[in-house]
Amino acid sequence: MSQPTYRLANHTCVVPLVQSWAAWWMTTVPAPASLHVHKSQIPLLKAYLQNPDFHARAAKDPALSGGTFVGISPERAGEVKALLQQTQEAQADRVKMAEALEDFQGWLMEEAKGQSLEPLYEKIPEPLRGLVELAYDYHNRAFLRVMEGGLYRSRYHKPELQSLRLLRLESDSSRPHLFTTPYLMQAGQLDWAVPFSEERISRLFETDLSPRPLGYLRDVLGPAVTSDEQLLPLLTEEPPATYTPWEGAQPRVRYLGHACALVEWKGVTVLVDPVISARPAGGGMTRRTFHELPPRIDYVLITHNHPDHLHIETLLRLRHRIGQLVVPRSGGMMVGDYSIKLLARSLGFQNVLELDTYESLPLPDGEIVTVPFLGEHGDVCQAKSSYVVRAGKQQMLFAADSMCVDDAVYRHMRQNLGTIQTVFMNTEIEGAPHTWTLEALFPKKRDRKLEKNRRCRGSNAAEGLRLLELVGASRLYNYAMGLEPWMENIIGPPSPPEAPRMKESDRLLAELRAKGLGAERLCGPTDLLLES
Ligand SMILES: [Fe+2]
Repeated sequence: MSQPTYRLANHTCVVPLVQSWAAWWMTTVPAPASLHVHKSQIPLLKAYLQNPDFHARAAKDPALSGGTFVGISPERAGEVKALLQQTQEAQADRVKMAEALEDFQGWLMEEAKGQSLEPLYEKIPEPLRGLVELAYDYHNRAFLRVMEGGLYRSRYHKPELQSLRLLRLESDSSRPHLFTTPYLMQAGQLDWAVPFSEERISRLFETDLSPRPLGYLRDVLGPAVTSDEQLLPLLTEEPPATYTPWEGAQPRVRYLGHACALVEWKGVTVLVDPVISARPAGGGMTRRTFHELPPRIDYVLITHNHPDHLHIETLLRLRHRIGQLVVPRSGGMMVGDYSIKLLARSLGFQNVLELDTYESLPLPDGEIVTVPFLGEHGDVCQAKSSYVVRAGKQQMLFAADSMCVDDAVYRHMRQNLGTIQTVFMNTEIEGAPHTWTLEALFPKKRDRKLEKNRRCRGSNAAEGLRLLELVGASRLYNYAMGLEPWMENIIGPPSPPEAPRMKESDRLLAELRAKGLGAERLCGPTDLLLES
């Protein structure tokens, strides 16, 4: 009799962690992570330890949603204290590097006024030696440029702190918040200490489509598993779904939630901004999970680095199924304008394409073109790209959180690419402050008066309408609105109907419909067939 085979259960999440914190770029990319641990994580853990009751209560209070509170019950404060100590020990060098970065940048701006920078190299503090270049812009403003490739080969890159946490997802709201709450070990969880770059991670995730015997899974996970009883609740014998390739005459777009969309066209699959969720044991909104995606994803397109678009957890799980990972180009001049390509390489991706604006990739009777993505980052330079996917005569723009702040950009787009019939875009009238998730990158001492009106917002209704007119679109899919409950651990609970961004979305949809155009707000998995 053949032995039973298993895959990860639909309710099993595999969460990449960096010393107990969920992996996103501010915990993973060496220079930003150094600033983040020094200026955000350590102070946050200390604040929690001052008043664990307050933090635990505040983290559960919907009125304080989006606040910086550690959602851990006071009974576990001892474990938080231990984590703080371990962090201070294991990341002491990162802390020193962060201090050096901030101090030296400030000193450099005072000292360098246009004269040669050559004598200043000997002033570079030890933690930065060999890893930075000094330069001026054309207005004689001095800055230091970190050499990111070197940082990944230095002590500031810490694969030894990386692990994969296997856990049973009870409900969408049970996940710790990405930015504020570390993953303390819970009963029934497994923590597999493995660098994200390692190929053997894929041996586990291949079982999503090709179930294997228990012994195989135990071999892959090694000492993380001590008994079958530990592993079995995280597995299922239920066979995976069978994928049927789409063979229609028009492209099919499978909206999978938030900004994630799968385009299927002439045997090619293109997945935009993948964020795929496990299916909670306790139920919740219907969703497609990992084994229900195509076995081969020819292209994954990443629009920008916000973790609701660049989701390391999903990327690692799909890594072995992805043909090319397409990412926007960074400028590389500022610490936060990090290279998504180098990050992806550190996640074990060999097949990364970093494309500049208006580069293209061929599809059968179609193409993928990278196009501008303005706004949404509070005027802080970061790698961003929208994408036009052409499938036959159909062109669709995945604009993500773009703000139509300059008509000329979209006029130029239409001149170059022709009419774009379908636009996928969010609406955001307000947006987070420009330092959202990035506070650690900014110096504490700075003149904040002028910063107040810098928000991470997308297009409002008028700008959205304008964008559609400029590219000649006949339909809008309003997406990336954070309405699916599995986004809660990343961007907080879904906005209620009375929230300004939802009202703005209503306004845009109503105006488009009044003009006879197609307009739909997407929420939950939906299959879209794009007719000409
Ligand atoms: Fe965004």
